[in-house]
Amino acid sequence: MSLLEVSDLSVAYGDLVAVRQVSFAVDEGAVFVLLGANGAGKTTILRAISGLVPARSGRIFADGRDLQGSAPNQVARAGIAHVPEGRQIFANLSVGDNLSVSYLAERTEAPMTAALDAVFQLFPRLAERRRQLGGTLSGGEQQMLAIGRALMNFPKLLMLDEPSLGLSPVLADLVFERLATIRALGTTILLVEQNATCLELATDGIILANGEVALAGGRDSLRDSEFVRRAYLGI
Ligand SMILES: Nc1ncnc2c1ncn2[C@@H]1O[C@H](COP(=O)(O)OP(=O)(O)OP(=O)(O)O)[C@@H](O)[C@H]1O
Ligand SMILES: [Mg+2]
Repeated sequence: MSLLEVSDLSVAYGDLVAVRQVSFAVDEGAVFVLLGANGAGKTTILRAISGLVPARSGRIFADGRDLQGSAPNQVARAGIAHVPEGRQIFANLSVGDNLSVSYLAERTEAPMTAALDAVFQLFPRLAERRRQLGGTLSGGEQQMLAIGRALMNFPKLLMLDEPSLGLSPVLADLVFERLATIRALGTTILLVEQNATCLELATDGIILANGEVALAGGRDSLRDSEFVRRAYLGI
C-alpha cells in the first residue's frame, strides 16, 4: 500500500466544485508533484488532506489509516506535515521560537533539541539567525523556516504548497536541492508547484487542470508532455 492514497476526491466551496474526482497515490520514498496553473485546485487538495476543508466525497488514506473526518492536529500527529501556501510563519516570534512551537512532544521520541539540530543542520542560515524575528527574514529564509517548522516532527510525508513561489531561480533551486536531501534522509514528499523545474526532482505526479487530473505518470512522461511544454515552457 502507498503511503498516501487519495481516491475520487471532490471538494466544493458552496456551489463551486474546486476538485473533481481526483485520485493519486504517493509511494514511500517518492517526490510526487501536483502541477497545475492558478486555480487548478492544488491548494484545495492539500487542505483536504490536512483536514482544513471537508471533502465532498472520496477517500484519503495515509499509512493505511482512514483520514476521513480527521482534524488538522490529528493529521499532523499521523506524520503528515503541511508547509502552507504563503509560508505563514509567525512574524513576531524568533526563528528559534517559530521552530519550537511547532514541535509536538507526543509525535516523536526524539527530544526537541534533536529536532532543532536536524533543522539547523539542513538550514545553517536559520541557526545563524536563531534570535532574529521571523518577519524580518528574507523571502528565501522564510521559506526555509516554513520547511524547518514542518520538519520539527520528523514527518513521514512532507507536503509543500508552492515553496518556490516568489523566490529567485537560484533560491528556488536551493529549496529544491534541500528537498532532495530531505527525501534522501527518508521523508516522502508531496510537492505542489506551478514551476515545472521541480520535475527535475520528481519521481512521478499528476497535472491538474480545472480541478481534474489532466495527466498522470512518471517524471519523464510529465516533462515530455505537450501540456507541460506548452503551459510551462512556452514551446
Ligand atoms: N475559501 C474558498 N472559497 C471559495 N472558493 C475558493 C476558496 N478557496 C479556493 N477557492 C476556489 O477554488 C478553486 C481552486 O483554488 P485553489 O486555491 O485550490 O487553487 P490553486 O491550484 O492552489 O491555485 P494557485 O496556484 O493560484 O494557488 C479556485 O477557483 C478558487 O477560487
Ligand atoms: Mg494554491
